[in-house]
Amino acid sequence: MTDKPIVLVTRKLAQAVEARLERDYQPRFNPDDRLYSRAELLELAAGAEAILPCHTEHLSAEVIARLPDSVRAICNYSVGVDHVDLEAAKERGIIVTNTPDVLSDATAEIAMLLMLGAARRASEGERLVRSATWKDWSPSFMVGLQVTGKRFGVVGMGRVGQVTARRARGFGMEIHYHNRRRLDPDTEAGAIYHQTLEDLLPCCDVLSLHCPATPASQGLLNAERLALLPPDAIVVNTARGALVDDEALIAALTSGQIAAIGLDVFNNEPNIHPGYREQSNAFLLPHIGSATRETRDAMGFRALDNMDAIFAGEEPRDRVA
Ligand code: DGY
Repeated sequence: MTDKPIVLVTRKLAQAVEARLERDYQPRFNPDDRLYSRAELLELAAGAEAILPCHTEHLSAEVIARLPDSVRAICNYSVGVDHVDLEAAKERGIIVTNTPDVLSDATAEIAMLLMLGAARRASEGERLVRSATWKDWSPSFMVGLQVTGKRFGVVGMGRVGQVTARRARGFGMEIHYHNRRRLDPDTEAGAIYHQTLEDLLPCCDVLSLHCPATPASQGLLNAERLALLPPDAIVVNTARGALVDDEALIAALTSGQIAAIGLDVFNNEPNIHPGYREQSNAFLLPHIGSATRETRDAMGFRALDNMDAIFAGEEPRDRVA
């Protein structure tokens, strides 16, 4: 018998993270990495003092209301917490944490990949090579857009937004941003602040989304706002699909109102709007912004640092509820 707390770990984690869980807790692992149904999740939570979920588990108010009384903490393996009803957790006195900072570099890398992939028609080119349909080279073949020296617009200048802006500066891009609060001049590092999204959009040759998904930001990139982008704009999303009105984005792409898109996140993943698949000027990835070995370890350790603090009776570093 051990008095180590029981922890429900909803998805398969990196070996080093599972080893630490094994050492310090009584983990209930998911070795097959199956996506649990709501009923399974509730059943497996019986007797658990903490849950370590990913964004794939929807901890709605209804689910939280039905969690066993034993659950004291939800230590997310994610920076985004839109999959958890924070108010419902607060009402039940369940502490909720996330994993900020540790995935900023990996996500910024994917934002750059999406920007370049969209600008340089990487999807189309790759398909040509793989399908053996590449026939020739000519000056008019596969001509895309250059991003060097263009304007890079950031919506949400938090941790990921700031790292992404630094990477974009490496391409000589001029940084514009919209954020709830203006950054201090040192952090701003010459980036141009726009008080409203409507002011920002006309200045974005590339628009990159980095704000959290909340009821207020749902569908933020809609038809009216897309119409404010300059001709040949590229839209990049590494944050959450919920920020985008899919129909409007697909329509803007189809009509040529914008030049290309690079998306790593979607509404209703993995059953994305089928319209995206038909667009040759869309560079699409399956939500892998944080999927590097280094970051996956770091996310797990950060979630466990938070859990350790909670069970030591201390305030966890990344408490969000
Ligand atoms: C995050 O951490 O929010 C990533 O999207 C993976 O869940």
